[in-house]
Amino acid sequence: MTQPTLADLIDLRLNRRGLIRGAVALTASSPFATAAQEAGPSTLTFKELAHTLNEQQHVAEGYDMQILIRWGDPVVAGAPAFDPANLSAAAQEKQFGYNNDYLGLHPLPYGSKAGDRFLLVANHEYVNPRLMFAGLETERDKSRAQAEVEMAAIGGSVVEIARGGSGWQVVADSKYNRRISVNTLIEISGAAAGHELMKTVADPTGRKVLGTLNNCAGGSTPWGTWLTCEENFNAFFGGDAAKLDPQVVKRYGLGRSQYGWEPHAERFDMGKEPNESNRFGWVVEIDPYEPEAAPVKRTALGRVKHEGCTYALAKDGRVVLYTGDDERFEFVYKFVTARPWNPTDRAANKNLLDEGTLHVARFDADGKVEWLPLVQGQGPLTAENGFASQADVLIKTRLAASLLKPTPMDRPEDIETNPVNGRVYVVLTNNGQRKPDQTDKANPRAANAHGHILEIAPKDGDHAATEGTWSIFLLAGKPGTDAGARYHRATSEQGWLSCPDNIAFDSKGRIWIVTDGAPAAAGVADGVYGADTMGHGRALTRCFYQAPTGAEVCGPIFTPDDRTFFLAVQHPGEDKGSTFEKPSTRWPDFKDGVPPRPSVVAITRKGGGTIGS
Ligand code: FEO
Ligand code: CA
Ligand code: CA
Repeated sequence: MTQPTLADLIDLRLNRRGLIRGAVALTASSPFATAAQEAGPSTLTFKELAHTLNEQQHVAEGYDMQILIRWGDPVVAGAPAFDPANLSAAAQEKQFGYNNDYLGLHPLPYGSKAGDRFLLVANHEYVNPRLMFAGLETERDKSRAQAEVEMAAIGGSVVEIARGGSGWQVVADSKYNRRISVNTLIEISGAAAGHELMKTVADPTGRKVLGTLNNCAGGSTPWGTWLTCEENFNAFFGGDAAKLDPQVVKRYGLGRSQYGWEPHAERFDMGKEPNESNRFGWVVEIDPYEPEAAPVKRTALGRVKHEGCTYALAKDGRVVLYTGDDERFEFVYKFVTARPWNPTDRAANKNLLDEGTLHVARFDADGKVEWLPLVQGQGPLTAENGFASQADVLIKTRLAASLLKPTPMDRPEDIETNPVNGRVYVVLTNNGQRKPDQTDKANPRAANAHGHILEIAPKDGDHAATEGTWSIFLLAGKPGTDAGARYHRATSEQGWLSCPDNIAFDSKGRIWIVTDGAPAAAGVADGVYGADTMGHGRALTRCFYQAPTGAEVCGPIFTPDDRTFFLAVQHPGEDKGSTFEKPSTRWPDFKDGVPPRPSVVAITRKGGGTIGS
């Protein structure tokens, strides 16, 4: 653990005492560094990329980009080649899914260190029907066959990859290669399993469900499993919601389905199968080393629109999982397992995530953060208030959490721990709906169009602690233009960013921020920005990568040797009016008749070396 530097301490003090005043003073005197191309005090020495928005992807000079795998590429043995004019569910079940988001790297063999073979796991979040199929008027109006292609395109993939002389390759027909889709049998465990609200006609036990939905970000466990998170599951359910708890319907945004599956599959019709929607919104644990093992929905981690779920170890070896609920005014959570993990017996950790305590965060004005336990019978979580069991607390997590009065946040996206300084970074992407009288110290801007990042120091460096301190790491937007934007004073005209979403840390503890929602009107694509988190270059963000038009950047992850940086480029071509026939980009293939394809990109340094410096 590195001690905070003097610059860190000054910054913390500034944050606590006069954030907005400090920001105005900073930006009014010097909106940008004069020597924009120079790294200045940053330890990141690459020549900064200019903001660029067009049909291509771009990376800083001196780096190579390789397309590792694209939507429709073969995953499972026997997968047919991608044929965009003749998509079928049977083919898609064996091919790489759509809209890759979270990426994870699991070394092969299990337990080995930093080699050249990994299981790459990827989430497939949602679909862009009008880019996948010819002739669709709307996202909803589709044939049953098309709906079934979509169901096969969502979920996740496990793909063995290997590094060789010509870069990274997918290992064809690896025994580990696997697709998880809306049709995969998944177990339900933890306190909500078997509850009345989890039972359906197809599953009277309430313990088995088909599939996983809207797999956004994720994480891993110390025992090498993959956590994939169900985010905007509500968008897949249609029909009459009258049989559901109206408070749940309202708070989770259930009502109208975005994708129009309900005429084709009854379980997505809330009028016909009201409890099916209760079986989504969970964190799902998958063992990539056991291709036959069923994934498991771990209900102890709560039911919200989980962005991701990343772990840190408590001092006593218990596992702490941080997870954000990505919606305006929703909360930040952490789950602490009841028992420590067992590093010498992998099987002993199999159901570790079924027991523990879920907490929700309150960020106080004095710089303290308190983690409030969501335990039935404690405080207001009683039967009189609608929570007769822990299952009720978990199935209706948002409603239970509100009773504890946590801090409503500006859309909590990724939350990750810096491996060098042990602090936790909470990424808040934006919240255009926050009114001036709803601002607080942790969400200081009304109509927050650009988002910000908080930094938490757990008490005594222990992630299991129910207290800690917090400060603001940066406030996004364009300095000098967007009120309150604040970075390091040397941040350049291309180094500012908007709508931070996911983050990764390299082994030096530097933060790499990917964005979702950059201002296209200003000619800025979503991209990747690197910054120091400590020392004189703290929060000096520098532009490293710009995505093709319509895309957001997801899944940032480094190989343990920092020599490859993988990115998931999601929904390229998702621009207004962009269709299969006339997409705004045909990245990455650029062939007539081939629509844009969400893809995983591997970035390496020309001539070798570590990323960034
Ligand atoms: Fe799927 Fe919160 O991004
Ligand atoms: Ca995200
Ligand atoms: Ca996003």
